[in-house]
Amino acid sequence: MDFPIFHLDWVGDRFLFVIIAITHVLINHGLAVGLAPIVVAMEYLGVKQQNPEWDNLAYKIMKTAFIITTTVGAMTGVGIWFSASLVNPNSIGSLIRVFFSAWFFEWIIFVTEVVLIMTYYLTWKTWTKGRYKLYHFIVGYGLAFFSWVTMAVIVSILGFMMDPGNWNTDRSLLNGFANPMYLPQLLFRTFLALIAGAAISMLLTHLYTPKDSEIRQKAMRFLAKWVLFCTPYCIGGGLWYWNVIPDMMVQNMSVAVGTQQFQGWYDTLKILLLGGASAVMLYALLHLIMPKFKFQTYMYVVPVVLLLGTLGMFERVREFIRKPYVIGGYMYSNTFRVEDYPLLQQDGILKHASFINTSQITADNIVEAGRNIFMLSCSRCHTANGVNAITDKFRTMYGTADEPWNADAMKGYIKSMHNARYFMPPFPGNTQELEALVTYIKVLQYFPDPETHTFGTATISKEENAKLIAFLKEVEERNQQKVASK
Ligand code: HEC
Repeated sequence: MDFPIFHLDWVGDRFLFVIIAITHVLINHGLAVGLAPIVVAMEYLGVKQQNPEWDNLAYKIMKTAFIITTTVGAMTGVGIWFSASLVNPNSIGSLIRVFFSAWFFEWIIFVTEVVLIMTYYLTWKTWTKGRYKLYHFIVGYGLAFFSWVTMAVIVSILGFMMDPGNWNTDRSLLNGFANPMYLPQLLFRTFLALIAGAAISMLLTHLYTPKDSEIRQKAMRFLAKWVLFCTPYCIGGGLWYWNVIPDMMVQNMSVAVGTQQFQGWYDTLKILLLGGASAVMLYALLHLIMPKFKFQTYMYVVPVVLLLGTLGMFERVREFIRKPYVIGGYMYSNTFRVEDYPLLQQDGILKHASFINTSQITADNIVEAGRNIFMLSCSRCHTANGVNAITDKFRTMYGTADEPWNADAMKGYIKSMHNARYFMPPFPGNTQELEALVTYIKVLQYFPDPETHTFGTATISKEENAKLIAFLKEVEERNQQKVASK
């Protein structure tokens, strides 16, 4: 690893990334990609029906979207790349190499989108007549289109990370871009975004229009039809996506030992996907069948929560089932490339890591070397003591607080961890490093390591190291006596 290691031990790096990314996706899909075309369509209806109420409503909805997308939306969008490059700089490095020109275009498209949203919103009250209204529409359509294009480029990168397809044998941008997951995921996301946009618009319409007003009824009918039109495409896209998820991901999930929880998520997703979409469709139908029914505010919050929940869950599972890879078949989530494994398992990972201070393991630095190995090979997914803590994992496997964990069993487990749990990459280091890692984890059993933190640079002195090793030996001996006396 030729980057320093960033590590948050309390929540874990994955968590940091996931929170930022999911917030962004919800805003992007619900308030940009999904909402822009609805707002433009409402503005258009205002002109067509010569009814300024449409225009007013569209403006208010746009104002909400404008405020949120240009603040939290934009910051989390950039935040995704910042946090991803902190957490896994190697994978971002590879992605930049593959998608170099796509990234460049993405930047231009993004800037265009920002300029368009500024123009569209800020000229709404001045470009109101004749030629200017036409310009306003053009900007609006442009905004809807470019919002979608920014998503369309990124979805390719997301698909690529799950299954690079031919790219693993023929490494061209085109092969990377047109990966097998791309189109189904794009179709699914596009229509899910349009439905989420409509559900949010229903809620906003309810808030921004007077009770029993004609415009409220009209807008609800329009949005209901919008949802009904989009739902079949969304479900179709979802099922298509389902079918192209590589068999390996699906099979190994059920084959791997005791992955019920994992299977559970997978099934939950399926139910949520179909359930979420159909519930919103039902809702839309109700609006058409019973236009006189008095819907309460909370009734509009339900579908929004349901849809955003579906979307969040979808992202979570998508990130998860890709494991053990961060880029399918090419790079493991621990940042090591598959093709480098034979070399690393022979030489060890420490020798090839630039930003650590133990390139050789000795009796005097074994605990710190173990910590470095933990950082390099486990910390992208585990913490020492926080979320998904390595100590918790071993506690559930090897028992009580005062009994020392069995070093041989731990070694055995780590050596075959990829077979035991497919979603974990194989251990990348050599035998000596395995020894050091296990020593460190055994130290963690008794001493939560306060130095396992962001850019953990503190060193463990020779004396501390000796004390820790002596302590481990002592508990081990005490335990053996206990066993012998039984
Ligand atoms: C790609 C991410 C990833 C990496 C890298 C990783 N793990 Fe895991 N590990 C997981 C996940 C996810 C779980 C299951 C968490 C849960 O219980 O929900 C897990 C579970 C475990 C368990 C418990 C297994 C069981 O059967 O209950 C152990 C032990 C473990 N990991 C050790 C390690 C060690 C040691 C390393 C580093 C050498 C490591 N892991 C690297 C993701 C990873």
